[in-house]
Amino acid sequence: MCGIFAYLNYNVNRERRFILQILFNGLRRLEYRGYDSAGVSIDHNKPLVFRQEGNIESLVKSVYQEADAMGLDLEESFCVHAGIAHTRWATHGEPAPRNSHPQTSGDGNEFLVVHNGVITNYQADKAVSYFRLAHYVRFSLFLFAYWYQFPPLYTLLFGDWNVRLAGQDVVVLVLTVAQLIGLLVVMAMVLRETLIRHGFTFESETDTEVIPKLAKFVFDKANEGEGSHTVTFSEVVLEVMRHLEGAYALIFKSPHYPNELIACKRGSPLLLGVKLHASVNISLQLGFYQELNEEFNSGPTFHDSKFLSNNDHPKELFLSSDAHAIVEHTKKVLVIEDGEVVHLKDGNVSILKFDNDKGRHGGSHSRPASVQRALSVLEMEVEQINKGNYEHYMQKEIHEQPESLKTTMSGRLIRGGSCKSKTVLLGGLKDHFKTIRRSRRIVFIGCGTSYNAALAARPILEELSGVPVTMEIASDLLDRQGPIYREDTAVFVSQSGETADTLHALEYALENGALCVGITNTVGSAIARHTHCGVHINAGAEIGVASTKAYTSQIVVMAMLALAIGGDAISSQTRREAIIDGLFDLPNKVREVLKLDQEMKDLAKLLIAEQSLLVFGRGYNYATALEGALKVKEVALMHSEGMLAGEMKHGPLALVDENLTIIVIATRDSCFSKQQSVIQQLHARKGRLIVMCSKGDAVSACPGGFGRVIEVPQVEDCLQPVINIVPLQLLAYHLTVLRGYNVDQPRNLAKSVTTQ
Ligand code: AGP
Ligand code: GLU
Repeated sequence: MCGIFAYLNYNVNRERRFILQILFNGLRRLEYRGYDSAGVSIDHNKPLVFRQEGNIESLVKSVYQEADAMGLDLEESFCVHAGIAHTRWATHGEPAPRNSHPQTSGDGNEFLVVHNGVITNYQADKAVSYFRLAHYVRFSLFLFAYWYQFPPLYTLLFGDWNVRLAGQDVVVLVLTVAQLIGLLVVMAMVLRETLIRHGFTFESETDTEVIPKLAKFVFDKANEGEGSHTVTFSEVVLEVMRHLEGAYALIFKSPHYPNELIACKRGSPLLLGVKLHASVNISLQLGFYQELNEEFNSGPTFHDSKFLSNNDHPKELFLSSDAHAIVEHTKKVLVIEDGEVVHLKDGNVSILKFDNDKGRHGGSHSRPASVQRALSVLEMEVEQINKGNYEHYMQKEIHEQPESLKTTMSGRLIRGGSCKSKTVLLGGLKDHFKTIRRSRRIVFIGCGTSYNAALAARPILEELSGVPVTMEIASDLLDRQGPIYREDTAVFVSQSGETADTLHALEYALENGALCVGITNTVGSAIARHTHCGVHINAGAEIGVASTKAYTSQIVVMAMLALAIGGDAISSQTRREAIIDGLFDLPNKVREVLKLDQEMKDLAKLLIAEQSLLVFGRGYNYATALEGALKVKEVALMHSEGMLAGEMKHGPLALVDENLTIIVIATRDSCFSKQQSVIQQLHARKGRLIVMCSKGDAVSACPGGFGRVIEVPQVEDCLQPVINIVPLQLLAYHLTVLRGYNVDQPRNLAKSVTTQ
């Protein structure tokens, strides 16, 4: 999680100030991915590195101050220049300039790297090492004591001097020696320790720092004994990649390869943006591969795609973690695949690809399949990623929901003149419905808000599909290695399509042979690419870290999925038609509930100083309780719990007194009377109640007028969660603003969690 960005201008004159602005703007667009520290590198005589703790604006300020202090000419123009930039969400090492990126190979910045992801083999797990070391020390002492007949130490270790080396002890001894060898092997494989042994010193606590240092090590080794270097930049990076484990998207810069950039990835997202200067008639060579047939250090063979080779024509090239930082410059992008290395040099773009995706240890020399690549055209508009007239992205995205829901349903709901023609079309799934209907069960897998959305849709899926539906939080499924079978349909729900836990769960389900369906908002994301089939929710770019419009669109997609799986069973025809009518009318109803904005602001003023907030829901709205509470805790930084109302008397009721504020969701559905009774029980314990009920239903929901009431429009029960979450989103938003916190970039969080 974090954003990496690079800008290379070729045969286009750009002043240093302009280059910096492009890099800063790129970071501003990516800031939602991580915002605890940031950095850039641009050229002077050698690469300059600027790193700063805090948000992008702190970096911008410090760069201009430093540039001023060192007399850096910001107006100096470059015909070709390569700059890299990074905005961080720390995984290893606290936010601090030394841990910010670009990370460097050392003095002289011979290799600089920006990284999104986690390197897992950067250092041995200390605890394991110390544990093994302790064993080693103990048994060394034992050997010493035994062989040198040193009774006091021997007695101390074994209690009895008369104990002699028996068969059992020999086994222990052999194990110890094996353990010691194991430890030495582990230490040898771990990059940081290896590099330290070769004389490198580390200044950060990051996992990333091993990468530029390894690049320097590889470079130095390849050039040993030679005057000038013969190894190419891409060869250095390919060799580095062979040694890396974990997930990464990387961009390299080096003064040994001036005006070149290399990017590569495995697991984390990466895009190349191409802006070709107008007057030139350029033909892009797409999908053209030229085999290099050369190896570096017995590494895997790779292919070189001269993806773009119109050498001297002016162009600007961008590398970015996502499209947000590219769309304002160009709409022509290439999604970089795992295992690919993109080399920008002399106006060319080359793509090298490992034969074996993992690219390690040079095992595979089999011929790779030819990979057809083409530039895609981004459908995103710049306006979509601007705040417009709103103060915050979260506010904009909450208020955008009538439109985002319309786009989600557009072209997918068909309502003709006769009842029979009310139907749902989900093109991405049409060839798979038979398999889904025959599944042993449908398993929904996701994290956070995406999990909650699936939970909200679960009842209608169970009702219409006739297939058992189970729910899995991705990390929990992985922790338990829970059962997933060939006969299962596993549905992966993720706004970003990049969440590491969900992605790993997808790999796990693929290994187990399940049919894997993706529901995501991000076209070209890892989940969209690796599932067998799926549906895009088309909610538009969601930039606020708190997911709002994606949540409601996910529920709607899953309701449509339920309708589509249910097919045209006569028994449920009336129900299906009612839901389809409800879906058509949903954007209007959301528009209506958004009118509660001021009321929610007033309520937020009353709750501003609360320590804690409970939200009770059940049935269709159990998910609403979880999601409402998640919104409040993640942005307003107020403790808040969503609870199943049916569980209230099994524990949570003990918390209730006149100081506790509780929101109870009691809109009309089959659970209404049970919720009435919950409200009575909470009232009897003097809880401070806020009841969400259907419009005009205040008296039934809250007899005697105790408690505050939020009245919302009533819709078909399975669609009610879409309506009910809106006031809670607004409440969380206003609470946050009133409490003075950052709404769009909540403390410690980032938009997509690409680490486990
Ligand atoms: C939502 O407000 C949160 N930011 C978070 O729970 C999020 O939904 C979760 O990390 C899953 O993300 P995804 O939908 O991109 O997979
Ligand atoms: N693991 C790197 C670090 O902690 C990169 C973090 C990220 O991708 O967010 O610096």
